[in-house]
Amino acid sequence: MKKDIHKDNDSVQKMDNPKESPKLTALVLAAGQGTRMKSPLPKVLHPVAGRPMIDRVLRAVKQAGAGEIRLVVGHGQALVRAVVGSLGVICFEQKEQQGTAHAVRAGQIETIEGNVLILNGDHPLLEGRDLQEFVKIFHDEKLDLALVTATVKNPGELGRVVRHRGDLKAIVEVKDASADTLKIHEVNTGIYLIKAEVLKELLPKIKNHNLKKEYYLTDLLSLALEEGYKVQALTGKPHVAVGVNTQAELARATRFIFAKKIKELMDEGVMVLDPKCTYVEDSVTVGAGSVIYPQSFLRGNTKIGSYSVIEPHVFISECTIGDSVQIRAGSYLEKSKVHNKCVVGPYARLRPESEISEEVQIGNFVELKNAKLGKKSKAAHLAYIGDAEVGEDCNIGCGTIFVNYLPNKEKHRTKVGNRVFVGSDVQMIAPLEIGDDAVLGAGSVITKDVPARALAVTRAKQVIKEDYRPRETEEATDTSESPK
Ligand code: UD1
Ligand code: MG
Repeated sequence: MKKDIHKDNDSVQKMDNPKESPKLTALVLAAGQGTRMKSPLPKVLHPVAGRPMIDRVLRAVKQAGAGEIRLVVGHGQALVRAVVGSLGVICFEQKEQQGTAHAVRAGQIETIEGNVLILNGDHPLLEGRDLQEFVKIFHDEKLDLALVTATVKNPGELGRVVRHRGDLKAIVEVKDASADTLKIHEVNTGIYLIKAEVLKELLPKIKNHNLKKEYYLTDLLSLALEEGYKVQALTGKPHVAVGVNTQAELARATRFIFAKKIKELMDEGVMVLDPKCTYVEDSVTVGAGSVIYPQSFLRGNTKIGSYSVIEPHVFISECTIGDSVQIRAGSYLEKSKVHNKCVVGPYARLRPESEISEEVQIGNFVELKNAKLGKKSKAAHLAYIGDAEVGEDCNIGCGTIFVNYLPNKEKHRTKVGNRVFVGSDVQMIAPLEIGDDAVLGAGSVITKDVPARALAVTRAKQVIKEDYRPRETEEATDTSESPK
């Protein structure tokens, strides 16, 4: 077994868990190749509404009160370990992927005491409260093995739960199922709660006598029944059964989470014009009275205040947006702060570390990068404002460029005071400081600091050359003459 990059398998850290007694250890299976995904990315790392599938499963397991979480990794494990690094799990390597029971063996169950919660890493819709409920029934009913099943409309590839006169008999995988068994709608969700000592006894008895020649964890059920253990099927809601094995299933799970989030937002008073075409990750918050138009995508740790309007085709990631803000169509905002009553766009871009104070207006084709604009300042059209600090009430004219990137590849900052008027098509070569109330004449290239209240103009004087071009009539009669 390889050493975990974050923790040593031999020195498994015990986390305090006063509520659960006996101790609950979770074993999450995530070593499979995910062949059906047809993707180079390990299956459990595929994002579902912005977060890796495995991250969702592990957070649910934590909420369920597992004192220790063991993750079985194999295929693409270097990447998986890196992603789960901060989540406080202990990784165990399954060298060859020979089935779900084989994966459980890789989790070194001989070192587990108490109860074990086993589940698949490919069920991203699972929530902490689903698991909490199963754990509670398992304890209350003093079960030896609990199997979580669900009754679903389209059972697809999920293992079927076979009963005889209502009593549990076995789980049959689709590949091994008869036509009659395939008609069953009660399916195995892949979630099991089992006493550690029962697992230790039954696991070695699982054989690979099936079409795939794999060690199926599903065989636990029939083995436990044979041995006369107290076994019960717990009924989960249909979303618990949503496993992701293909790209189509991934898209379905993603849609489910977006739809759930949109419903929550609408229940809290957010107006969503077309819920099916609006994408808001579950980590985002939006205040009541705000409106979200279709095809907008709100990501990560984004917070939007009240009475704000997000117009169509807007992308916002990791931003804080205040109240009564208008983000107009086609704008793209990342890691930035937009204070109350600002207007951004249409077609504006706020790159990371930008901050615009109250009532700022950023118009079409204006890009900000690591730039701050003071209260009521305006950049209404076609400008690049990079590495800058602009004061209050300034006007940044059309076509202005804050030239921050020099041939030595260094970036420099520009500081602009309050009430500065920057005419159209001005270039400010950083590092530079422009004093309060200064005026920069249109078309100027500013290379030196400008004092307060001064006018700076650098354009060449206009020259008039009379009769520079021949009149049309002269041109027609004599074409040999060159321009004067
Ligand atoms: C499994 C169940 C099926 C159930 C379904 C629920 C078995 C045999 N079948 O099928 O009854 O309805 O889950 O989604 O258990 N894994 C390993 N090592 C392996 C094989 C798999 O770690 O050698 C992991 C995978 O990464 C995955 C999980 O186990 O996270 C389940 O494996 P998968 O191949 O997706 O099983 P299913 O066919 O979905
Ligand atoms: Mg699966």
